Amino acid sequence: MSPRFTARAELLSALGLEAEERLRDGVPFASAVPAGPTGATAVPGVWVAGNVADPTAQVIVAAAMGLAAAAHITGDLGEEDTDRAVQAHRHATEVHDRAWWEERYRTAPGLWSGQPNDVLVTEVADLPPGRALDAGAGEGGDALWLAERGWQVTALDLAQVAIERGARAAAERGLADRVEWRQADLTEEPPEAGAYDLVTSSFLHPPADVREKVIAGLAAAVAPGGTLLVVNHDPSELAGGLPRHARPEYFASAEELVGLLDPAEWEVQVAERRPRSARGHEGEVHHVADAVLRARRVTGASGRP
Ligand SMILES: Cc1cc2nc3c(=O)[nH]c(=O)nc-3n(C[C@H](O)[C@H](O)[C@H](O)COP(=O)(O)OP(=O)(O)OC[C@H]3O[C@@H](n4cnc5c(N)ncnc54)[C@H](O)[C@@H]3O)c2cc1C
Ligand SMILES: C[S@@+](CC[C@H](N)C(=O)[O-])C[C@H]1O[C@@H](n2cnc3c(N)ncnc32)[C@H](O)[C@@H]1O
Repeated sequence: MSPRFTARAELLSALGLEAEERLRDGVPFASAVPAGPTGATAVPGVWVAGNVADPTAQVIVAAAMGLAAAAHITGDLGEEDTDRAVQAHRHATEVHDRAWWEERYRTAPGLWSGQPNDVLVTEVADLPPGRALDAGAGEGGDALWLAERGWQVTALDLAQVAIERGARAAAERGLADRVEWRQADLTEEPPEAGAYDLVTSSFLHPPADVREKVIAGLAAAVAPGGTLLVVNHDPSELAGGLPRHARPEYFASAEELVGLLDPAEWEVQVAERRPRSARGHEGEVHHVADAVLRARRVTGASGRP
């Protein structure tokens, strides 16, 4: 009677790989884990070599199988690195225009939490309700919170898909008559000048080349005596690597934002880096920081209070 060779493949069963019977002249004589010529198994990233794959291999063949598998593993890892680098490059050259934002909203049932941003809640708590503009309102988490507190809100965003979501949420919460939803591009058309007691923008992130124009438009939309609140990711976050979909030119410190305001027209009330904890998609906690600018318009453009 001939010996029977058994592949010690129990380790692999947790990954979904099982040894199979091998037959000689129709009679089982061994077991082995099925694999292709390079040793690649049906489970991506798992290779086998030597007797576990071929029970008849002698040392020289087993060693050659190990060498072949190693070469292909190296190739596979190299390919993965290349794919990742190509993705990163594509990502860095993406244009975040209206089509990009519409698609981003369309491909997710909800991009944001629906909750108001902490900075807004803190900074607006002491303001009497009036007319507010939420610039880059997204799905309206901030706008709806303001409306619930008695503000008459214009929620403006580049993406129609986001605005429609916000409008639906407003109707469900009985706030339809308190929020006007408007699709517009703030790099092309500034909001109505002097029309709002509060202009707020959370994470709008106008890139550096249009930041001055966009912030000037938002500032001009504030009525004398009104408040401008701008919140974005603080540049210190760049030290931890770029967050998903971000680009370095989106980041402005509170000081840079202050530099865009005419000191004769504005009393800066808050200009700071404010650390915050944020929850990721899997519930993990990240420590991030916001750049916060809050300023009160002390005069109109004419210089009169
Ligand atoms: C009796 C006999 C005589 C042989 N004579 C020759 C010869 O003269 N010339 C020749 O070229 N070949 C000979 N061979 C074949 C040779 O032994 C094999 O080709 C060679 O050992 C195969 O190498 P391998 O690395 O694939 O497997 P192995 O040498 O069997 O190495 C596998 C190793 O993995 C370990 N292991 C298994 N499961 C686990 C686990 N869960 N966790 C941690 N470790 C684990 C095992 O303990 C073992 O050390 C002979 C084989 C036998 C059985
Ligand atoms: C990161 S999201 C923030 C959304 C919301 N403020 C919040 O905090 O949940 C940025 C929003 O700005 C909008 N946006 C980007 N560029 C814009 C532009 N040029 N004009 C108007 N809105 C813009 C995007 O469509 C997106 O909804």
